[in-house]
Amino acid sequence: MTFKLNGDSALFLELITVYLCTLSFESVKTEKANEQAVSNKKFFIETYGCQMNFSDSEIVASILEKEGFTGTKELKDADLIFINTCSIRDHAEQRIRKRLDFMKSLKRKNPNLVVGMLGCMAERLKTQLLEEEQVLDLIAGPDSYRDLPKLITDVESGHKAINTILSLDETYADVSPVRYDSNGISAFISIMRGCENYCAYCVVPYVRGQERSRDVTSIVKEAGSLFQSGFREVTLLGQNVNSYEWIEGGVKTSFAGLLEKIAGINPLLRIRFATSHPKDLSDELLKTMADHQNICKAIHLPVQSGSSFILDHMNRKYTREKYLDRIAAIRHYIPECSISTDIIAGFCDESEEDHKETLSLMEQVEFDYAFMFRYSERPDTLAAEQYQDNVPDEVKDRRLREIIDLQQKLSWQSNKKDVSKIFEVLIEGYSKRSRDYFSGRNSQNKVVLFPVTGNKIGEYVRVKIIRFTSATLIGEVHEDDCNK
Ligand code: 5AD
Ligand code: SF4
Repeated sequence: MTFKLNGDSALFLELITVYLCTLSFESVKTEKANEQAVSNKKFFIETYGCQMNFSDSEIVASILEKEGFTGTKELKDADLIFINTCSIRDHAEQRIRKRLDFMKSLKRKNPNLVVGMLGCMAERLKTQLLEEEQVLDLIAGPDSYRDLPKLITDVESGHKAINTILSLDETYADVSPVRYDSNGISAFISIMRGCENYCAYCVVPYVRGQERSRDVTSIVKEAGSLFQSGFREVTLLGQNVNSYEWIEGGVKTSFAGLLEKIAGINPLLRIRFATSHPKDLSDELLKTMADHQNICKAIHLPVQSGSSFILDHMNRKYTREKYLDRIAAIRHYIPECSISTDIIAGFCDESEEDHKETLSLMEQVEFDYAFMFRYSERPDTLAAEQYQDNVPDEVKDRRLREIIDLQQKLSWQSNKKDVSKIFEVLIEGYSKRSRDYFSGRNSQNKVVLFPVTGNKIGEYVRVKIIRFTSATLIGEVHEDDCNK
């Protein structure tokens, strides 16, 4: 079970299904593609899981287009279907298994259809998947997307194809992601891959491999060209962006240094990032955020639990006190910063007292929003190997419910405090409910709706908040001269 309140930017969402837009592929068609004449084949990518997966699907689209394939947003038109998968909780995998049942029915109608699985579930289950899910022709882990054209050729010559080799240095730095399904205003940029933190509950280090940072020059170049093509917001992605580090010619660039470089591209380009690990959140980073108006004042800082015993058990490498110290530092350097978090209910050996500490920490920090999960044991993790999943289901559910109820109250209070404030809002599009309203976000990453003005999508406006719901701030334009 996953619950989300008031916001959409945590690194992991349970399900984002993305349909590929038909892309103008003339511009990217390569000579190689012409030679191979594979170009009539259409592919469709469906993405589950986190923003990182979403970003990876854009890389996959780019690799396939370069080989002459064309994206389609119509599943029925596809010759190749790729499902980019998530393994973070059992529930995520079960949803994907159900989806494969549907793919079987498509394949009965079109026996030439190629169905491939990408991402974390592909990496975790490898050949086992080919045995269990006959519908699959191809399996590719997160570091093997460059091999996709070859894997497709193998399938076309009658074989099942698989590559789940993890890499020590693959960052796809030279691949220009295809921004399909984009609003043309905000884009993800992957700045690192993998994770080495080995939190006891987490499958990510096993399915995404070792942590590696991407070449700083390629990141800055990508951000610059996005700005040139009209984008106004980039979100830098990594499992633990605070440990970003690039060393070249004896010069070291830290995450704060990277932010500074991107902030310098243009004051009208906003920068967000996810996710920060509390153990690595430095004062240097907070000062850099405070010094640049275009680095958004929003930090997603997953706490997981308010109990130092559970945090130690989870191998999080910080205590409740250390976490609160980081919160105090954020408030000190950036008083207007919003703070969001992830919380797991019912981890192994969690007592009622531990759970109460989570609730009290939430009250103390007053998170603006949170992503809240029920603990789900994942194979191969430290917790699965060494601990008992010993909190009964009904206790997990009750604790999760208490956490959600409290967060609902905190989110409501947080939004209430914003009434009468004036925020700079980047217009991202129209409200889902009405084209009479624009929708955008303020620096704190809260969604703001306001009546349509003469402004254009992609511009900044100042909006005075007049009312709110638990998920949205609603206001009116105060002045509109902030695009210079
Ligand atoms: N069970 C429940 N939640 C988990 N998360 C990661 N692994 C698990 C798991 N096994 C949550 C953490 C993490 C977020 C991305 O997903 O809160 O921060
Ligand atoms: Fe998983 Fe911990 Fe790495 Fe986050 S930091 S991806 S929770 S192992």
